[in-house]
Amino acid sequence: MALAIRFHEQQVQPDSESLRQESLVGFAATPKSISPKFFYDRRGSELFEQICQQPEYYPTRTEEMILRLARQQIAELAGRDASLVELGSGASRKVRLLLEALHPSSYLGVDISRDFLLSSTHRLAADYPWLDVHATCTDFSQPMQLPSEAMGKHPLAFFPGSSIGNFTPDDALAFLRNLHATLPAGAGLLIGVDLVKDTAVLERAYNDQAGVTAAFNLNLLQRIRNELDSDIDPTRFQHRAFFNKAESRIEMHLVSPEAQTVWIEDQCFDFAAGETLHTENSYKYTPASFRDLAGQAGFSAVAMWMDPARLFSVHYLQRD
Ligand code: AVI
Repeated sequence: MALAIRFHEQQVQPDSESLRQESLVGFAATPKSISPKFFYDRRGSELFEQICQQPEYYPTRTEEMILRLARQQIAELAGRDASLVELGSGASRKVRLLLEALHPSSYLGVDISRDFLLSSTHRLAADYPWLDVHATCTDFSQPMQLPSEAMGKHPLAFFPGSSIGNFTPDDALAFLRNLHATLPAGAGLLIGVDLVKDTAVLERAYNDQAGVTAAFNLNLLQRIRNELDSDIDPTRFQHRAFFNKAESRIEMHLVSPEAQTVWIEDQCFDFAAGETLHTENSYKYTPASFRDLAGQAGFSAVAMWMDPARLFSVHYLQRD
């Protein structure tokens, strides 16, 4: 039996075109940089799923443990007939922990990666036949309009994985303000936020022994090579990730160990020996610093859960 999901087409810029525009600008900048949103082609999304299973990468399993323990309380806070809206739904594994407890009237998956979104929402529809499943492909880092039929009376937005950490604090604030404008008063926001901790623990999480994070980082160059007219060679770059304490963020870079010139379309870019392309920031918060940020965007703290080692936090906020 074919199980239907309702797919709400949105006007998003074609991925390869934004990759082209943003690569040309980012490679010409000093220092060179590119948005981490380009990690997530099909291969990148698969590699990210593998990162989540690495023993060093604690955020995923810790957040899942917190959600498992807190889900009844979350269900009570969300109330009956909540409409669950998952931002950056990816493989939609964490939301499964909530579905049984919440029994929402509908589920809306929102993601920039169309293929991944469609396959994961189809799986959800197959596994939860009672659930009214919707999907919308959009770049939620920009102001967005969510389909009203999937928002119901009591929306609960779910933004797991500490993806908020991949925005700069200014962009995180802008994102939360956009969400504030999208959600009605009283709506809930359940959000996973990674915490500041021992540098060694943080750095291990982004330098796993199996080299999956390195492959994920380098895949960005492979994507440029696949989708654009470019001679960039991923084997001539190396993965680097470290904790920048002053900025409270993990930084990921691709280092050019030797001087080289790369072409993208009709433009060439010189890398000096040791020069990097900055590919990602992953900001780490304290419970108080995150509450403060959310408060500035018009969300009030309702509840917060952490694991005993205080590695990760899940906040339940309410839109004022
Ligand atoms: C998706 N995001 C929250 C991950 C993080 O931890 O910042 C992406 C990631 N990058 C390297 N490993 C995982």
